Amino acid sequence: MTRKIASGSFGYSDGLKGKGGEWTYDNLDHWIANPRAFAAGNKMTFAGDKDAASRADLIAYLRAQAASPAPLP
Ligand code: HEM
Repeated sequence: MTRKIASGSFGYSDGLKGKGGEWTYDNLDHWIANPRAFAAGNKMTFAGDKDAASRADLIAYLRAQAASPAPLP
């Protein structure tokens, strides 16, 4: 199961709120790779992880925490 971007109770930036769409694996990968490129004006203090294998490991870890994880692409 995916979730809409910026749909929690957190006070999100206009940049992330304006993005639209769902946290698919593809969107999550782009966000972690380069938050600024994915959603200009976001306020996540993270420069990005350029290493695709490292991002894949991270996404696999996050998926393992989900009660009903979205099917893998
Ligand atoms: C690899 C590490 C990280 C991952 C995987 C990650 C993941 C995410 C995701 C998926 C969101 C969107 C949440 C949603 O739509 O509900 C988000 C937002 C956010 N994260 Fe991170 N994050 C990371 C590192 C960090 C760090 C280091 C900070 C700050 C010290 C941070 C602060 C924030 C903030 C403030 C937002 C809201 C951004 C906005 O509203 O523009 N994150 N993060």
